[in-house]
Amino acid sequence: MRFAVLGDLHFTEYSTPEFSQARDYTFTSFFTQLRWRQPDLVFAIGDTINRGTIAELVEQERVVHRSGVKLIRLLGNHDNDLLEKSELKPWFLGSFNSAGEDGLYTAFDYEHCRFVIMDTARVKMSHIDYGGIVLEPQLKWLEAQVEDFNSAVNLQYLIVLGHHPFANTTHRSEKPMLFISNGDEVLKIFGKLRRGQGLYFCGHNHSHSIYGPVAGNWFIVQAGAPFECEGYRLVTVDKDGLELETVDFDMNEPELRNSFELTRRNIEGGFELHLFEDMYGKPEDRELYIKR
Ligand SMILES: [Fe+2]
Ligand SMILES: [Fe+2]
Repeated sequence: MRFAVLGDLHFTEYSTPEFSQARDYTFTSFFTQLRWRQPDLVFAIGDTINRGTIAELVEQERVVHRSGVKLIRLLGNHDNDLLEKSELKPWFLGSFNSAGEDGLYTAFDYEHCRFVIMDTARVKMSHIDYGGIVLEPQLKWLEAQVEDFNSAVNLQYLIVLGHHPFANTTHRSEKPMLFISNGDEVLKIFGKLRRGQGLYFCGHNHSHSIYGPVAGNWFIVQAGAPFECEGYRLVTVDKDGLELETVDFDMNEPELRNSFELTRRNIEGGFELHLFEDMYGKPEDRELYIKR
């Protein structure tokens, strides 16, 4: 099986039609290129939208649908800036219901993988604290997931996805609010994994980075924002093991490059762009192979 992880998309609305068109052109191209690689599942790791409005989600869904992709969205701080989690619910977790009332989180199995989608977003707090947090009920639920995985011998990979990284692991995660504030509690739970391989995918810090092993047998994979890194993570799991590659979008078409620049440079309220070479990742941040 194969799954893709898209970093922070920061899809937004523009008051200038030219920029809206550029946005649609850019994302249609990105999602179409992604579909060519035929992933079974596509995750958007949070900050899927920029301001946190339903209008952004409606527009994004239109482009996603037109491109033939089904997106499983996770909550990031930007998604949760204006609305309650209950209001955002129809747009997140794909077709899954949340396993708890304190956030939008769920788990499901696909072939030899268990996917655990976490919610690390604070509600309407980005203006003062855009860091992550995992509340007590979700922590308990996560622990039950790990214990259940330990006894599920048909499963080999525990794939956890959450928007925020862990402090002092992946690139930039040592900076204020670029991590889960109670991440040590989450890592303690990860440490209870007794068999198989754990992987945690995150976004938020906008750069491609891989860290590990940590908490026993876990790797942390940070997916860079397409607006900064121009690519996404693609993971193939087969009988030999797990292979992670980083796929760069083909940006050779001048119209795509031009649309991409218009889209990312005209986000209302601003979008901080960093140096491409700082965010793209070193070779060891872009590939990972785990033999079974
Ligand atoms: Fe972001
Ligand atoms: Fe974020």
